Amino acid sequence: MFVRESARGNIRRFMVDSVSLPLWLDDYIFNQLKANYCPSNSDMTVIDWDKSNVLNYLGTYFPRSYAESYCIFRNFFIKDLLSWIFRDKISIFDFGCGTGGEIIGLLMAIGELSPNLKLVEITVLDGNHAALRIFENVIKEYLTHTKISITYKVIPQVIEDFYDLSILDAVVTQKFDIIMSFKSICEFVTKERFEQQNAYEHIAKTFLPKLENLGIMVLADVTTYNSVSQEWLPTMMDKGLSKTGCNIVMKNAGYNQRFIISHSRHKKDESKVAWRIIQTRWRN
Ligand SMILES: C[S@@+](CC[C@H](N)C(=O)[O-])C[C@H]1O[C@@H](n2cnc3c(N)ncnc32)[C@H](O)[C@@H]1O
Repeated sequence: MFVRESARGNIRRFMVDSVSLPLWLDDYIFNQLKANYCPSNSDMTVIDWDKSNVLNYLGTYFPRSYAESYCIFRNFFIKDLLSWIFRDKISIFDFGCGTGGEIIGLLMAIGELSPNLKLVEITVLDGNHAALRIFENVIKEYLTHTKISITYKVIPQVIEDFYDLSILDAVVTQKFDIIMSFKSICEFVTKERFEQQNAYEHIAKTFLPKLENLGIMVLADVTTYNSVSQEWLPTMMDKGLSKTGCNIVMKNAGYNQRFIISHSRHKKDESKVAWRIIQTRWRN
């Protein structure tokens, strides 16, 4: 249940927007996988990147995605605690998971708040094989630091267009408790995968029917002006979501939210994203 108005002040005290990368994860990505901290200001289309660029991604944007996800999910779970705290199993689908920083952020957040959690079933899709190999390594490392059992299924697929999305729609028949996409839909806009149509609308319409009862979809994305669509991405996200008739239950205040992540290569690194949490409407 969502908490009453009177409890909101107390809850705000528990809200986080600043974290450190767990030491085991910091050691693993920087010392074992040889990630590099290397920020870039250009529009990124990671789908085309090779292994050395993906290692730059891992050292720079993976920690940011970890922080965004950990904070967004933790703050949401605290608000909607009774729906999550007693669960012993959850299922997750990540569209455009890349190296999977947001998956580890989510696992850490839910692991801290759900003491009964025993099994997490993860399905991920991404078209970049180098990123997926790193994701699998990171998940295997995570497994050595948790008592939670994880199953994971990887769909290594480039979604070129509407046709590919419809095939995916037909192939992924399962329903999920959590469906998410972090900073990947912007690449569909830049590459005009759905011609000039709204990518947020099409992706949300495809995956919203795959949510379990009371499941949530979390969309987070960069907040830049996209020179291909000639639109600010958060505006495009809102326009697309409004066409789905979905129920947005939480979002960043203002235009975007700033998150702070500290790790061994950069203290207080900063990222800004726009995010929306959509929940299926019905409650028993
Ligand atoms: C900026 S990265 C974000 C990765 C991850 N979600 C994160 O937050 O760290 C965007 C991801 O979307 C994937 N992607 C972009 N376009 C895609 C497409 N058409 N089909 C499949 N994956 C795609 C890329 O390969 C990349 O891993």
